[in-house]
Amino acid sequence: MKKTYYNFIEGVLFVLEKLVIQGLNTLNGEIAVHGAKNSALPILAASILNGSKNLLYNCPRIKDIDCAVKILNRLGCATKQNGSIISIDSYSLSGYDIPESLMAEMRGSIVFLGALTARCKKARICYPGGCEIGQRPIDIHLEGLRRLGVIIDEEHGMLNCRVDKPLTGAKISLPFPSVGATENIMLAAVTARGETVIGNAAAEPEIADLADYLNKCGAIVRGAGENTIYIQGVAELHGAEHTIIPDRIVACTYLCAAAITGGSLLVKNMNPLHIEAVLELFEQSGCRMMTEPDRVHITAKKPPDPIHTARTLPYPGFPTDIVAPMTAIATIADGTSIFVENIFENRYKHVAELIKMGADISVEGRAAVIRGVDRLYGASVKATDLRGGAALVLAGLAAEGTTYITEMPHIDRGYECIEKSLSSVGAKITRLCTP
Ligand code: EPZ
Repeated sequence: MKKTYYNFIEGVLFVLEKLVIQGLNTLNGEIAVHGAKNSALPILAASILNGSKNLLYNCPRIKDIDCAVKILNRLGCATKQNGSIISIDSYSLSGYDIPESLMAEMRGSIVFLGALTARCKKARICYPGGCEIGQRPIDIHLEGLRRLGVIIDEEHGMLNCRVDKPLTGAKISLPFPSVGATENIMLAAVTARGETVIGNAAAEPEIADLADYLNKCGAIVRGAGENTIYIQGVAELHGAEHTIIPDRIVACTYLCAAAITGGSLLVKNMNPLHIEAVLELFEQSGCRMMTEPDRVHITAKKPPDPIHTARTLPYPGFPTDIVAPMTAIATIADGTSIFVENIFENRYKHVAELIKMGADISVEGRAAVIRGVDRLYGASVKATDLRGGAALVLAGLAAEGTTYITEMPHIDRGYECIEKSLSSVGAKITRLCTP
């Protein structure tokens, strides 16, 4: 019988959880990757556009998806979740405002804005929450929507949006290939009048997956996955079935788990073409990588070689979401590694926690210099954000002794039961509910 402790603060029930990791176990075996969080989120938002029945397969069972489903329900859509299958009937959509509590839970909530204004001709939301990895403004989102004809009044952190005249296609060139802004503009443009061209668009695989779903709904989107996207507005969309692409960041995290423990893993249900920049870094660290269309086999070198200089870039460059997991590997490399983060201002919040475990890291602005040490040591650490939390799990796998990780909701936002997945390939990791 699992003992569960409860904490009451002002009458609110909290179950405090922590991961407990016994380190120095080499990981070996096969591990499957779940669907992509950053693809499922915009596609769930897009489902409100067609006012019909939709069926999504391979949705990850994670907190951010739960939040997106809560938003859909709050807006009046009918949803049903059965494991990784989510059905959404957006015919009954009746609301146009998203409460602050739900907007604050994740950054991905902002992508409901484009779909809401297109479907309801109005929307009322506040600024989104999510990982505090930077200031994360939404100016590019708002400018793009305004170019299509959305009237947006910003007042005390609230966005009051309305559409007085039918949305009309426009030629929009983004100052930065923002993933979320590209998605928001796509969702507002697919039923706008005329053509929309998005220049300097984000080219991430999740953008192409969103376009694939939209085209199944009857939209006309061309060029997604490239830097210019062409959208021919249509009068209406219909429901569709779609399978979410694999989560490339989770796939890389599992590969990091093999690399940091000197193990050998077959990572399945993934697309190696989505992580080519990362595969090169694994090879630089001495790992042997064998790829097939839907899987990668990694055999690690112990200790890993250092990564001379890894600079993050928009896709297809080295992804910012993998910096934190890669810094964990670098802490035990036999030399000095350097990471330069060019996307977010604050990707190193987890470094202080790694230093508690014996890592030798110095951060100068956007650069992290990591001098490899012989050994990390288990400690009590806390997850500071989603991918920083994943980095601490990886460090715990390689540390001598026991590591305790709290603030688990950060990790559960993007990883499906991380302890179960890693235990299946030899990690000694459990989740405890503690007072
Ligand atoms: C998406 O965030 C992902 N989140 C992030 O993943 C990912 O790290 C990021 O893209 C980059 O690939 C989701 O898809 C839900 P951006 P997003 O807009 O859309 C600046 C994870 O761990 N910017 O491409 O917020 C911004 O400040 C998360 O899964 C503006 O200045 O990223 C940042 O410096 C973390 N104004 C840069 O652009 C804007 O209006 C990239 O942001 C929008 C963005």
